[in-house]
Amino acid sequence: MVKLKLDASLVLFALSSSVLAVVQRSPQPQPNAQPYSPLNPRAATPYDEPIYRRDYISTSEAKPSYDYVIAGGGLAGLVLASRLTEDPKVSVLVLEAGMSGDDVKDQVNSPAGAYYQSIVGSAYDWNFTTVPQPNLANRRISQPRGRILGGSTAMNAMYLVRPSKTEMDTWQELLAGDGGDSSTASRWGWDNLYKYMKKAETFTPPADSLKSVVNITVDASLHGSNGPMQISYPAIMINITANWTAACAGAGIPEQKSPNGGTTLGGFITPSSINPSNETRSYSRPAYIDSLPPRSNLHILSESTVLKFNMQSKQDKSGNYIIESVEYAKDSSQTSNTVVKINKEFILAAGALSTPKILMYSGVGPKDTLESAGISMKVELPGVGQRLQDHMTSPIVWQTPLQTAGDIHNSGSDFSKSKEFNSFINDAVAFANASLLFDGNQTTFQQEIVASLNDTMVDKMVPSYSSEVKAGYKKIYNLIATRFFDNVAQVELLMSLISPGVVAVQAAIQHPYSIGRVYVNSTNPWDGIIIDPQFHSHWADLVMMRQGLKLVRRVGAAYGTVLGTELNPGPNMQSDDAIDAYLVNDPSNGANSQFHPAGTAAMLPKALGGVVDADMKVYGLANVRVVDGSVFPFEFAAHLASAGYGVAEQAADLIKAKSYSVTSGKATNASVASTASLSLVALVLGCLLTILGL
Ligand SMILES: Cc1cc2nc3c(=O)[nH]c(=O)nc-3n(C[C@H](O)[C@H](O)[C@H](O)COP(=O)(O)OP(=O)(O)OC[C@H]3O[C@@H](n4cnc5c(N)ncnc54)[C@H](O)[C@@H]3O)c2cc1C
Ligand SMILES: *[C@@H]1O[C@H](CO)[C@@H](O)[C@H](O)[C@H]1NC(C)=O
Ligand SMILES: *[C@@H]1O[C@H](CO)[C@@H](O)[C@H](O)[C@H]1NC(C)=O
Ligand SMILES: *[C@@H]1O[C@H](CO)[C@@H](O)[C@H](O)[C@H]1NC(C)=O
Ligand SMILES: *[C@@H]1O[C@H](CO)[C@@H](O)[C@H](O)[C@H]1NC(C)=O
Ligand SMILES: *[C@@H]1O[C@H](CO)[C@@H](O)[C@H](O)[C@H]1NC(C)=O
Ligand SMILES: *[C@@H]1O[C@H](CO)[C@@H](O)[C@H](O)[C@H]1NC(C)=O
Ligand SMILES: *[C@@H]1O[C@H](CO)[C@@H](O)[C@H](O)[C@H]1NC(C)=O
Ligand SMILES: *[C@@H]1O[C@H](CO)[C@@H](O)[C@H](O)[C@H]1NC(C)=O
Ligand SMILES: *[C@@H]1O[C@H](CO)[C@@H](O)[C@H](O)[C@H]1NC(C)=O
Ligand SMILES: *[C@@H]1O[C@H](CO)[C@@H](O)[C@H](O)[C@H]1NC(C)=O
Repeated sequence: MVKLKLDASLVLFALSSSVLAVVQRSPQPQPNAQPYSPLNPRAATPYDEPIYRRDYISTSEAKPSYDYVIAGGGLAGLVLASRLTEDPKVSVLVLEAGMSGDDVKDQVNSPAGAYYQSIVGSAYDWNFTTVPQPNLANRRISQPRGRILGGSTAMNAMYLVRPSKTEMDTWQELLAGDGGDSSTASRWGWDNLYKYMKKAETFTPPADSLKSVVNITVDASLHGSNGPMQISYPAIMINITANWTAACAGAGIPEQKSPNGGTTLGGFITPSSINPSNETRSYSRPAYIDSLPPRSNLHILSESTVLKFNMQSKQDKSGNYIIESVEYAKDSSQTSNTVVKINKEFILAAGALSTPKILMYSGVGPKDTLESAGISMKVELPGVGQRLQDHMTSPIVWQTPLQTAGDIHNSGSDFSKSKEFNSFINDAVAFANASLLFDGNQTTFQQEIVASLNDTMVDKMVPSYSSEVKAGYKKIYNLIATRFFDNVAQVELLMSLISPGVVAVQAAIQHPYSIGRVYVNSTNPWDGIIIDPQFHSHWADLVMMRQGLKLVRRVGAAYGTVLGTELNPGPNMQSDDAIDAYLVNDPSNGANSQFHPAGTAAMLPKALGGVVDADMKVYGLANVRVVDGSVFPFEFAAHLASAGYGVAEQAADLIKAKSYSVTSGKATNASVASTASLSLVALVLGCLLTILGL
């Protein structure tokens, strides 16, 4: 029983720390000094190419001021740093709280390392947990986040799944209404974001050797071909995967033959952020930074935590405050912070759980939170930290007679140490709408959801005093319950083969109705952020999780004898009450986070509780933008990294086109700026001519 429990708990694609302790005792691939040879790309070589140290500086080398200071060297922070410094006249400083990651590069670079030598739960993880969740038996839910250059892309599970056209176009529509700006809203619709998601990537189709094991349907035209992120497939796949789309179809989920091009519904093998030339993880650091030639205008400082920013006491003509400096420090033992001045803009890219914290400690946020924390409020912005949502997930686990990746890993064979095997990453997914989730009986559920929205309920659900935040909740709630209900996925299924002897298929709800917040409770920015997603506070989320597990069982049944006995929750757990109890109570296999927190600095009109506008600028501040997963206005039925790269790529273009100058006190278009400097030259010339008396 103990062993079964252990095996079963290994299945979540990213694992709790107790599970990791087990995993890390397994033998690890031996380092080997052979250089990587492009002529022999599938050879069992280690990840030995030095990670370039260019651009990474020490604290004493930092300059007193930069045009742009970026808080967070994660997904979005490094994309921006890379793109903004394409202009040699622009200077950029990236401040990353975590260490560089040079000491763990083999762990990070190996795709299978995501399971067998993960940095989750290490010094490279923020190790966040939620406050006890009353609707989950008061469990604290683990929320790992990368604390390393590359951020969470250095530890994530590498699935590439884009949101759908319907969701993106709804984002555009939300931005255009309620006092928003319809002329800029279209930036965030599908057509434009898709262009930017593609700009980030170079896609390589699966090798023929792979296709002989799993007949993957691929449409390369739906991907980018010239971007920094490498998107491909692992060198090996496990036979069980070959039957995934057929098993999904057997359960009524049709195959999706064109994934990642605007529709997500269906079963498919999705590509991963993997570099096929050397079978390594492709993530923001190698893709956007290490591959650059040295750039003297880019400074990247690791082990530097941004604590707060300082603003001028006077407002500009539009009533916005101007940020003039940012404070950072190595750790809490430092007696004073280092202050760096901003020539142009400060960009928050610290991720959905940390960006709101920096805003709040700088005096920007909800009035009640700042008051009870004792922070003096500079700008009241009730949406900061609100709208926190996540995808919750739970697996069904079967014993299997067939070989899994976990079996190969545990064998200790030469193959288990090869680069090919260590490129293994889970990639079988399916997305199902409400019709499938409720097996045709979805209408009653939908009517109940729509009927349960009233002001009393909203006051109870939304942890905010603000009528704007509540208006946003209502509006988005109705969209999820109607437009998204059947057109977009409500649940994702994910197959995991990483544990020995078992196959797990997780169900993850994609559009929760529960909503929570992150907040602070002190004046000391070194204190932790308080994370309260209020998981399952809306009754519908548990119902969807339960129906998701039932759908997983239908897929399992369609798989047939390839899957053996159900181990978890177990064949006698059939009633709704029994499944609910498993979801609520079981700490390792019950409902847990899929690690997709978002929404805490939502890009929405202010009247809907938004924190940033369609320029990504924080309302009330002249020169602060948020560029990271905090800006997503609602959860997408997707994994979030592809959308994150798209957002960051577009942000770079927006900033290049028009940005604020602290010295001139106004925002200037790039073209206008160069004209301005030309006229300055003319002016100087003019003066010279005057002085010379000509
Ligand atoms: C375990 C796990 C598995 C995941 N699996 C997938 C997957 O398979 N596919 C997918 O698409 N997505 C996945 N995700 C989600 C995806 O990785 C994130 O959505 C994405 O990385 C978010 O990007 P970001 O720029 O918002 O934040 P991050 O990439 O997390 O970057 C934020 C950076 O800011 C730094 N920082 C924070 N606070 C401060 C501060 N005060 N000062 C300085 N620096 C600071 C952090 O250390 C970090 O480096 C996963 C996430 C996790 C944690
Ligand atoms: C993998 O190859 C790419 C070039 O395609 C290179 O930039 C990267 O550094 C390599 N990664 C490792 C760890 O060797
Ligand atoms: C996360 O937890 C692990 C295990 O307790 C610890 O070693 C590590 O230092 C923690 N990470 C941080 C950033 O504190
Ligand atoms: C692979 O899939 C394609 C498209 O679905 C199909 O036409 C083809 O017959 C399949 N090949 C094999 C070997 O099953
Ligand atoms: C997996 O597929 C390969 C190639 O078709 C075959 O040789 C092998 O026996 C299969 N293994 C299992 C466990 O089915
Ligand atoms: C599994 O897939 C393989 C390869 O496509 C096929 O030969 C086999 O019949 C399938 N097995 C089942 C049980 O569907
Ligand atoms: C359909 O759903 C309703 C409400 O959730 C439930 O009462 C009913 O039993 C369901 N019917 C079937 C056939 O599942
Ligand atoms: C509001 O909806 C809830 C169910 O969500 C219901 O119990 C309550 O009676 C409703 N209140 C009003 C005033 O309609
Ligand atoms: C719901 O999903 C099924 C299966 O993917 C699909 O056939 C159906 O068209 C979907 N419904 C809508 C409204 O898109
Ligand atoms: C906030 O701080 C106060 C005072 O230190 C403490 O009593 C309270 O429990 C804290 N609340 C949370 C949610 O941490
Ligand atoms: C600056 O560029 C934006 C578009 O990026 C445009 O809408 C605006 O009119 C321009 N302003 C000036 C002063 O040229």
